Amino acid sequence: MERTATREPVGGAIHLWRVWLDQPPQRLTRLFDVLDDAERLRAARLARLSDRIRFAVAHAALREILGSYAGVPASDLHFAEARNGKPVLDGSGPHFSLSHSDGIALVAVAADRAVGVDVERVSRDRDLDAVARRYFGADELGWINAGGESSRAERFFRLWTCKESCLKVDGLGLRALETIRIRPDPRDRPRTCGWGLTEIAPGPSYVATVAARGAPPALRVATWHHNNTRIDMVIAP
Ligand SMILES: CC(C)(COP(=O)(O)OP(=O)(O)OC[C@H]1O[C@@H](n2cnc3c(N)ncnc32)[C@H](O)[C@@H]1OP(=O)(O)O)[C@@H](O)C(=O)NCCC(=O)NCCS
Repeated sequence: MERTATREPVGGAIHLWRVWLDQPPQRLTRLFDVLDDAERLRAARLARLSDRIRFAVAHAALREILGSYAGVPASDLHFAEARNGKPVLDGSGPHFSLSHSDGIALVAVAADRAVGVDVERVSRDRDLDAVARRYFGADELGWINAGGESSRAERFFRLWTCKESCLKVDGLGLRALETIRIRPDPRDRPRTCGWGLTEIAPGPSYVATVAARGAPPALRVATWHHNNTRIDMVIAP
């Protein structure tokens, strides 16, 4: 991977790496080589070949990205588990968070604070009403419905990523989801007590949120390509 100026997150900015998971078959062997036995075993347990490949690409990319910050080969990284299975680097290295949904993964990297990212594909296939009633409060349900039918699914998934990204900052379990309340501000930007949230649309039909303690984080967004890195955009909260 090209080592660019993105290697050191500065000024509290969070680096957000976008990874497209459907990679050409000729790249897969080299990617899979960096995984450890536990990752290969987890991939092998997935029923569908496409899911096994996506899992492996996401974890290989995570290793390459973190290795470039830590200054060690991707295959030399070791992970440990913190609270509720939150993965952390065993040894020195940046804070990070991984999320994947269908064909995309996001990796958030921060130098100085815990970070959480969640990405979801906006889908109308699922019974969103039942999930919303289970996890969302009346004010949140009101906001989801306020834009009418055309924006309901997108608003549902925006709120969902806001909540899940907060959980992932602190390694909380899904049980805590209903205790986090999101209140969009007058400019329709989500706010919540305790965490700063920055939203991004990482691709067509995908929504995502990056969360950290304190103010909404500024993001520097890049797309990961095996052996090649491109900086795309900078997002100020
Ligand atoms: C973390 C969690 C919210 C992820 O939800 P998800 O939308 O299904 O998946 P995402 O792709 O967004 O994130 C998965 C990644 O988050 C990370 N992760 C796992 N547990 C985590 C935690 N507790 N905190 C932060 N990150 C976590 C891992 O990197 C994981 O990637 P992997 O499965 O490929 O190794 C969910 O799995 C969870 O709550 N786990 C905690 C276990 C728990 O509390 N179980 C009881 C349920 S009530």
